[in-house]
Amino acid sequence: MQLFDVYPLYDLKPVRGEGAYVYDEQGRRFLDFYGGHAVISVGHGHPHYIDRIAQQLHQLGFYSNSIINDLQTELATKLGALSGCDDYQLFLCNSGAEANENALKMASFHNERTKVVAFTRAFHGRTSAAVNVTDSAKIKAPINRTYPVEFLPLNDLTQAEATIAQGDVSAVIVEGIQGIGGIYLPEPAFLQGLEAICRQHDTVLILDEIQSGYGRSGDFFAFQPSGITPDIISMAKGMGNGFPIGGILLHPRFAAKHGLLGTTFGGNHLACAAGIAVLDIIQQENLVANAARQGEILMQELRQIQGAGIVDVRGRGLMIGLEFDFPVGALRKQMLFEEGVFTGSASNPNVMRLLPSLTIGEPEVSLFLERFQAVLAKLPNYQQA
Ligand SMILES: Cc1ncc(COP(=O)(O)O)c(C=O)c1O
Repeated sequence: MQLFDVYPLYDLKPVRGEGAYVYDEQGRRFLDFYGGHAVISVGHGHPHYIDRIAQQLHQLGFYSNSIINDLQTELATKLGALSGCDDYQLFLCNSGAEANENALKMASFHNERTKVVAFTRAFHGRTSAAVNVTDSAKIKAPINRTYPVEFLPLNDLTQAEATIAQGDVSAVIVEGIQGIGGIYLPEPAFLQGLEAICRQHDTVLILDEIQSGYGRSGDFFAFQPSGITPDIISMAKGMGNGFPIGGILLHPRFAAKHGLLGTTFGGNHLACAAGIAVLDIIQQENLVANAARQGEILMQELRQIQGAGIVDVRGRGLMIGLEFDFPVGALRKQMLFEEGVFTGSASNPNVMRLLPSLTIGEPEVSLFLERFQAVLAKLPNYQQA
């Protein structure tokens, strides 16, 4: 049987991972500054992660959501304590898109409206409701365009206010930091303003922390320095370090009732074991603070680079965007095949994304910078400062 060919593939086959590195069949080592698309939070092959999942697999891999599963409670308790969002309620699912699907659905259940405000360059997933609020016409099928969406410019509070004040907006959905779009940050005052306007008009504010959450930004959730209280927070990528798990946090104002949401696989025993192990490691190894520190060092160093066509270095923690004055596809290929470093792309072709594991230390930061400089040095117009 042929695979349905939807991904352009690099001619590379990693077969093993350890910490911030992956290894191919020939034993060649690659520094992973892509984190398998912002998924690897606690590093490849962490012993506690492996043990906890293996132990659970030997005990009970799966049972349905019709029975008591103490692992879900343990996950919720640990997540509440570490995130500072203990008063929220947790609903578990399997992916980022599914988390946003449930968030949008809860908003519509709450205020019985259908219109949603999203922002230009947004990415929220590929399932039906989630893709409709994603700012990319080419990935939406006609069947996805089932409710009205207005895309507004990020950080323009005046336009957001004018739209939400019309009183027909069910939800506003915004990324904690826009990821796939190219690392664009909502300003704290913008988030604070959105919160106030949404409250005033009974519009549900959804913070999509699927990429920016779980410590990646140097805070547990990227919105937290703004001091807002979102109605719903969606999470996925870093949550299971590669094990498929997602979820939403619902503010106490949302009352649960049986049958309102549901899933077969969400919150299963193995996924919870992975999720608990991730939280244990984040806490024990102080990874949120580490992401803030390493990100700061990395961005400071990157800002010193002159003459390589870098026009902006932006981001927070270990969610960094490097914008060049030319498309970075060839540069990223050179990083991978000549220097053995994985980096990420963005829908803005001039942006390289850096999304390493939150466990990286100064040796990995230095190695990245050394390899990056080696590739930049080959640029035709590069003159080192
Ligand atoms: C901000 C954001 N939201 C939602 C998603 C969708 O997540 P998933 O691919 O797990 O469905 C992504 C995936 O890249 C994302 O970056």
